[in-house]
Amino acid sequence: MHLLRNIGCLATCRPDGAQGEIHEVRNAALVWDDGTIRWAGPEDELPFDRRSCHAFDAGGSLVVPGLVDCHTHLAFAGWRADEFIQRIEGHGYLEIAESGGGILSTVRATRAATGEELLDRCLSFARRMIALGVTTVECKSGYGLTLADELKLLRVYRQLDRSGPLRIVSTFLGAHVVPPEYEADRGGYLRSLTTEMLPAVRREDLATFCDVFVEESAFTLDEARALLETARALGFGLKIHADQLTDGGGARLAADVGAVSAEHLEHVSDAGIDAMAQAGVVAVSLPLAAMYLNQDPLPARRLIDAGVPVAVATDFNPGTAPSFHLPFAMTLACVRQRMTPAEALKGATIIAARAVGMDDRIGSLERGKVADFALIDAADVGAWLYHLRPNACRATVIDGVPRWSDLPAG
Ligand code: NIG
Ligand code: FE
Repeated sequence: MHLLRNIGCLATCRPDGAQGEIHEVRNAALVWDDGTIRWAGPEDELPFDRRSCHAFDAGGSLVVPGLVDCHTHLAFAGWRADEFIQRIEGHGYLEIAESGGGILSTVRATRAATGEELLDRCLSFARRMIALGVTTVECKSGYGLTLADELKLLRVYRQLDRSGPLRIVSTFLGAHVVPPEYEADRGGYLRSLTTEMLPAVRREDLATFCDVFVEESAFTLDEARALLETARALGFGLKIHADQLTDGGGARLAADVGAVSAEHLEHVSDAGIDAMAQAGVVAVSLPLAAMYLNQDPLPARRLIDAGVPVAVATDFNPGTAPSFHLPFAMTLACVRQRMTPAEALKGATIIAARAVGMDDRIGSLERGKVADFALIDAADVGAWLYHLRPNACRATVIDGVPRWSDLPAG
């Protein structure tokens, strides 16, 4: 049995209550065994004999559930700093995409990379994410856009998951954009997605979710609906990149098809919000993408007030969000989306866990859940997200095993 004592503030993030209710316990302790939490509560109520436990001192730290980055495009080759500069000079994201840059430029680089090269890069990103307190990452394909290249990306994610060091949830995003070889034959690409790629991904059990980018430059509502219905029939959970650059009705579609989440939503309409609330769809906010595109963020207050849970994730990708710094995204969610620090924390833990269909196992510090947690150098969540640092995380534990620490030894 392992015991973490002298926790200044334990943010349990139990799912009950409002999004801002993180169920904090002061002067707390946490007990785990075999990767599973056995007890969490005030240290002076500890129901175990300390001598039977292997004890660690948290030094008064804030302890939070392992962060869940529930929206990334982790496997890609190359970077796109040139487009970052072009946008500063006044060129739009869609304009750059239409002239051959954007997603398709990363598709070209990613097709040319081997699975080993991509895995090495993912591993190095993953290690640095763990050091920030992240313990689970949702990873989308979508920079391959051929059967072989999409399978290559999803197999990289499977290897990353199997080799540790953190938990991966994979999403098939073959419907990211129509690749150039199908430019004159959209129907042909959609047929390939439904009759070839989705069944192949299912056969190898390579992805839990199917996602689609609904946008003028990508897929129409009708195309997305047909694809998602096929995916659902094959047993995939559903996600949608919705209403990012324009209000394309993606939020409403997410509600209609029973998607677990609608993501981006910078241009979501009131009708879309109401439909999501009715259907219980999670909104995934991506404040780094809104920042890099210099957009107004999604209306988090309107969503939360309507009863829609709002997750916070990075969208890590080489175009719109070239950063995997989830705590920075959480600070942005506070400043730009007007979420309280507690709401942002629940958004990056238990609500993010719901967005990847794992809230029964991860996302909160409660008896029976997986022992994934992070020690943060702050008195409480407000102090943490207010004082933005390169890294405030002192240690990260995944499945009960310390995976990263900058605590002094001994
Ligand atoms: O989530 N919106 C579509 N996909 C990514 C951008 C990908 C890229 O620009 O490479 C996103 O923002
Ligand atoms: Fe994305």
